[in-house]
Amino acid sequence: MTLNTASRLGVALLALALNVCAEPTAIYMDPQQPLEQRVADLLGRLTLEEKIAQLHGDSKFTTAAIPRLGIPRRWLSDGPHGVREDIGPDTWNASGHTDDFATAMPAGICLAATWNPELGHAEGQVIGQEARARGKDIMLGPGVNILRTPLCGRNFEYLGEDPLLSGRMATGYVRGAQAADIASCVKHFAANNQEYQRGTINVEMDERTLREIYLPAFKMVVQEGRVWSVMGAYNQLRGEHCCHNDYLLNHILKGEWGFQGLVMSDWAGVHDTRQAVRNGLDLEMGTDGPYDDFYLARPYREGLQHGDYPLAGLDEKVRRNLRVMLATHVLDANRKPGSLNTAAHQKTAEQVAAEGLVLLKNRDQLLPLDPQKIVSLAVIGENAVRLQAHGGESSEIKAFYEVAPLSGILQRVGSSVNVTFSEGYRKGGDTNLVERALAAARQADVVVFIGGLNHDKGFDCEGADRPNLELPYGQNELIQKLVAANPRTVVVLEGTMVTMDTWLDQVPAVVQAWYPGMEGGNALAAVLFGDVNPSGKLPCTFPRRLLDSPAHALGAYPGTNGTVTYTEGLLVGYRWFDTQHVEPLFPFGYGLSYTQFKYSNLKLVPGTNAEQPLLSAEFDLTNTGQRPGAEVVELYVHQRHPSLARPEQELKGFQKVGLNPGETRRVSVPLDRTAFAFYDDRQHHWRAEADEFEIRVGGSSRDLPLKQRYQLPVTQTFP
Ligand code: BGC
Repeated sequence: MTLNTASRLGVALLALALNVCAEPTAIYMDPQQPLEQRVADLLGRLTLEEKIAQLHGDSKFTTAAIPRLGIPRRWLSDGPHGVREDIGPDTWNASGHTDDFATAMPAGICLAATWNPELGHAEGQVIGQEARARGKDIMLGPGVNILRTPLCGRNFEYLGEDPLLSGRMATGYVRGAQAADIASCVKHFAANNQEYQRGTINVEMDERTLREIYLPAFKMVVQEGRVWSVMGAYNQLRGEHCCHNDYLLNHILKGEWGFQGLVMSDWAGVHDTRQAVRNGLDLEMGTDGPYDDFYLARPYREGLQHGDYPLAGLDEKVRRNLRVMLATHVLDANRKPGSLNTAAHQKTAEQVAAEGLVLLKNRDQLLPLDPQKIVSLAVIGENAVRLQAHGGESSEIKAFYEVAPLSGILQRVGSSVNVTFSEGYRKGGDTNLVERALAAARQADVVVFIGGLNHDKGFDCEGADRPNLELPYGQNELIQKLVAANPRTVVVLEGTMVTMDTWLDQVPAVVQAWYPGMEGGNALAAVLFGDVNPSGKLPCTFPRRLLDSPAHALGAYPGTNGTVTYTEGLLVGYRWFDTQHVEPLFPFGYGLSYTQFKYSNLKLVPGTNAEQPLLSAEFDLTNTGQRPGAEVVELYVHQRHPSLARPEQELKGFQKVGLNPGETRRVSVPLDRTAFAFYDDRQHHWRAEADEFEIRVGGSSRDLPLKQRYQLPVTQTFP
């Protein structure tokens, strides 16, 4: 027998052996075996080529199958608000499938405005179940980047300006989604707070700001949400791209936080093989082939063959990919099948939208409208008929249906009210539209103007920031004219925050509707006509003008010469407005209800054993109005003599409490040591100092009627 024949026989025998091992009795195929044993068993069967193939895309949203071992292609999909339509394998165009619809959930900013982590969980559940029904394995959401500038084009996808609120909402979401046997992918790690120059911009900030503002939501999602994957951001942090940033990925995420899942790149966010290999990236995804040219494909394989990189590093990356695959039951016969657009999904979509709408103003209780008392209603504004779900780029959804605001209103009032519609404004402008809208307004009992922003590039859309904070298309002038023509004008704004100074005093009622998803029109009608009592609160401060916002006040946006330095440090959002005594248009945590709530009898109760929280703030909450309603109670902590300067106050607890008219409930908000701590970047630890604190409780960051001092007896430090 020649050597060649011998080696061919050897390969054949090996293949046979592997095939035998691939049978259902193999350890990695057995769901009863411990996860790590299954992972080790599968890892041990892979060739170098097969290992490499698990570390990069083989199309825009897939990784390669290994048929001989029964490993299917892994399917990844955007995004945070529902399962995106299928994209062609090699283009960004839609594939044109007819089975790629999904339930369009409210956008992240609307979800955050519910301040209800149970709804975070519910939204995650819908997305996870639909992902399974659509055959997806990893869902690219939630997005938890902090709202640093109101201009960031992706603020609508994220969860606002506060780390605790973002972290708790996202944790619920991830738990809900992953319960459906898929992996969530929290993004974009980290400091991805502007779209301008997003692929190249270098972010500089001090360590304390990174730890206290930009990392905590990710940390919660990793440690409490047990998220299975993390997406690196496009930008650089301290001179290194975040998709292969040693400090962020190796040191903090995998080292300090103990993350066991996989780190994937944002699409085409990798720039260097050596860094990608060494700095913690486990899966490279991208936009254009050839996929074997990806940094973690052929270049890595060749580097390994030349001995440039240790094999142990390769195994570690593959192990993480396999762990996520096996933990989400990709190979298991009883993997949950999921479900699509069920009645329950639709209900969740409506509930999140209804709880996320924020009533900003309601002079003389113009709202809720009583259909019995209205003969004619003029609905005005292009957003009344605009379908918004299929916009914004990667978070867009091909919705099964979308109830636009006008449809929701028509469905709600039936034929009992004469509803007219006029567009009022349009991109490009048209004076006739204004005249027609004014004529309609004059003749109506009530006007509901529905405007705001949309997902066009330059508004709430990926890839660019907004040029300013103004309402576009002449809407400011139109609103002023409408309210002059008919003082009973309600303004409903979709999109993220805008300035309202030119008309807010004249307009009696304003509703912030964000992007409320495919049930949004029904939810809006339910709020306008009082079937739902609004309970949303702002997850971000609305400034009077852009220059009142910290990054803009300090000229620290969008950066110069490719670097943006976060000179406002910790003072992001309300932390800035409250510390610098700047009056916002509407403060963080603010939102009205159709009923009123009274706060009383605050008592701080220290825990008496290790099972109990360090401290509980207990108080009475009473619904003093005429309608059932829900109040978000908010708790802020102020430290009196910190050894390092701290913001005036910080959100450290919140709860949503439903009450009937006249009902009082004793509410208890737990606080642990982290609620008192700040990050000391000289000593590299968190420290809760023995000091006097003020605990403040109320219904918004600027309305905190209950206050009490608390002396923390001993200093505690922790990592
Ligand atoms: C976005 C990600 C998204 C990815 C895939 C990127 O441009 O930044 O959020 O998940 O594309 O569509």
